Amino acid sequence: MNKEELIKKAQEARKLSYSPYSNFKVGAALLTKSGEVYLGANIENSSYPLCMCAERNAIYNAMLHKVKREDIVMLALSADTPEPCSPCGACRQVISELLKEGTPIIMSNLKGDIKETTPEELLPFAFSGDDLQ
Ligand code: THU
Repeated sequence: MNKEELIKKAQEARKLSYSPYSNFKVGAALLTKSGEVYLGANIENSSYPLCMCAERNAIYNAMLHKVKREDIVMLALSADTPEPCSPCGACRQVISELLKEGTPIIMSNLKGDIKETTPEELLPFAFSGDDLQ
């Protein structure tokens, strides 16, 4: 599966968003080595801090299906933004821990704009488990 196809999956996932408070729908799709795709969408709550982003839901969805960090080959996200939608700070922290360095993160919007990045580019100088030693 190529990045355009994974973006389509993220846009399908976006339709599953539960976002009655922000009305801002985000979708994400994670691709594994074996070609499986795990979806995520943002899920909000009337207690606002409990809202969960699409990217983290996709990553956690994959983990709960026993996908290993080394088997994640790409993550795409998409939203109706003027520029390709960029992961929030909390998602960057989770991405930096659960995806390998160099894993392509494909940011996109509904107009077809695409920007590609990596975990280390999204969060340089990340805090990590090593800091806890
Ligand atoms: N959101 C995401 O799902 N991913 C992002 O990268 C940015 C923000 C969600 C959280 C909240 O439900 C809504 O978008 C508005 O912030």
